[in-house]
Formats: sequence, structure tokens, C-alpha cells
Amino acid sequence: MTATALQPIVHPAVEGGFELEVTSRHMQTESIVSITFSDPSRTTLPSYVPGSHLVVQYGDAVNVDSVAGANAYSLTGSGSAPSEYTISVLLVEDGAGGSLAMHRLAVGDHVWVSRPRSAFAPAATARHHLLIAAGIGITPVLSHARYAAEWGTAASMIYVYRRGEGAHAAEVKELLGPALTECHDRDSFLKVLTERLTTQKLGTHLYVCGPVAFMDSVLGKARDLGWPEGLLHSEVFSAGELDAGEPFAVNLARSGIRLEVPAGISLLETLEKAGKSIPNMCRKGICGECTLPVLRGTPQHRDLYLSEKEKAENTTMMCCVSRSLDEELELDL
Ligand code: FES
Repeated sequence: MTATALQPIVHPAVEGGFELEVTSRHMQTESIVSITFSDPSRTTLPSYVPGSHLVVQYGDAVNVDSVAGANAYSLTGSGSAPSEYTISVLLVEDGAGGSLAMHRLAVGDHVWVSRPRSAFAPAATARHHLLIAAGIGITPVLSHARYAAEWGTAASMIYVYRRGEGAHAAEVKELLGPALTECHDRDSFLKVLTERLTTQKLGTHLYVCGPVAFMDSVLGKARDLGWPEGLLHSEVFSAGELDAGEPFAVNLARSGIRLEVPAGISLLETLEKAGKSIPNMCRKGICGECTLPVLRGTPQHRDLYLSEKEKAENTTMMCCVSRSLDEELELDL
């Protein structure tokens, strides 16, 4: 009798991806673990640009024979011909289970991952990169700092964290030296932020990652001080960190229906309520299942699936998390 090899169940978010092995793990802080993955045969992994993320599948046993979901995590390396991928994960006690699964990973475990995707790359035309991170938001900007140190591009960073809880703090210090400013309270951060936002030379791009309220306040301050939208970049981790958004309307061109999408309700939920069956899986903007074609209007892309180029084209959107910058969108539905 011939034995049949069990086929792993692959989450749609990691289709086209590959299997990796955990080769090391260590605690950055009491609640943040760094995990390093390598190819099981130790071959070089696909390169990635700074600010890229990896979708990691997790299951009950976090192994290839079960699947519960998939989460996106920022890659903290520089991404050039990497022999390994490293992510750092904050344990979210009341989360959906993804961070707990990552924290339970041990050396030798195997996981399925997507190819790295970028939605937060450094702007090629920037003359200086101003990096701003709070807490676990350090992970995507760390790869920017590493890239700047390796390639000699101009970068500085403001890193806000509670004393004793700064993941990767020593590493960033080594990479950026005096270009790193660490803040441990709101007042000192606001002072430094205002000073930096008002003294940057022309051509500086700003990159921010952290809790939503933190990012909103940084971006709001920059806008108030006259920073154009094209110089502002932010990275969100998942729909769980997204705000309720503004209400908007959608015209469904083929069905001839107009629907109102209230604040706090996703476009996907609105379409489902109207009897539309939209394929979906993660409902967190990472798997790409719920993509919809856009005919008119500008989506507010809040997903982690589309690349920056695809987002700029505005011809598709992930209806589980993305909304509209215009009062109305027209969809090919
Ligand atoms: S359901 Fe996964 S991206 Fe929308």
C-alpha cells in the first residue's frame, strides 16, 4: 500500500507562499517576542523592501496540519537577499489568538507564510526620512533604519516607549546613533515632535507607526503645520486597530443599487446586509478574498493586502476594511 502524504491546509492569505522553520526566538520585552524563520533547506529567501510585512498562518497547534487564521507582521530586517526573516510580536491577551500562537512557537516549528508585501516602503525621492514609532510600531520603521544605515540614506527617528519596555531600542541606537531620540512621556514627545516637524529640510518624508490615536495625532499635527499628504506615510497592523471611519455611499453599477455605509460598519457588512454574497475570509484586510473592482471614486485603502502601486491605481479595494475618501464610490457589482 502506498502512503499518501498529508497536504497542509493553506489559508488564502498565504496562498502562493511557502513553508518556513523557526530557527530562533527571544523575548525583547516581557510581552514582545522576536521570532526568526529560515527556509528548511536554508536557501536564500525572497528579498523585500523596508516596511514590508509577512502574513503568517496560525492554527491550533501553529503547524501545517491545522489552520485558524493568518496575521500580518512587519519584517524587521533590511530585506536584501535575506537568509532569514524576523518578526517581533506583541502578545495581545484578548486578541483573536494570532499573537498567542506566535508566542507559543518554538525552535523547529514550521509555519506557512506569504511572500513579503510592501505598503510602507521608503520614498525613493526623499532627501531625508523622519521615522516616528510608538511601542510595537517600532517593527516596520526598524527595517527603514536598518536600510538607511546600510545604504547611507539620511534618516532620523523619534521612538516613544515606556521605560524598560523598548523593543529593539539598543539595535536602533546602534543603527542611528545621535539621529535617534527616545521619549518616555507624552509631553517630551510632543515637544520633540513639534520641533522636528517645523525644522525639517525640504524633501523630508515622514513615516509613522504605532497605536491609531498616536498615528492620528502625529499626522494631524504634520498636516496642521502644512506638510503635504504626499510626504506622509503610516502603517497600520490590522483592522482591529482601525477607527470607525467616515460614512459614505456606494453605487453598485451592475445591480443599480445605492447603499449608505455608516461610520463603524464596514462596506462588506453593508453589502452582506443588502443580500450580496462577497467571498471573504479574514475580514481584517490581509487575505485578499474580498477584493472588489472600483469604477469611480477614491477608496481609502486600509488593508495590508494590496501593494502601494495597486493602492495608487484605485481600481480595486478590500471591502472588509477599506472605505472611501470621496462621498460616493461606484463599484462594478
Ligand atoms: S476578507 Fe480578507 S482582505 Fe477582506
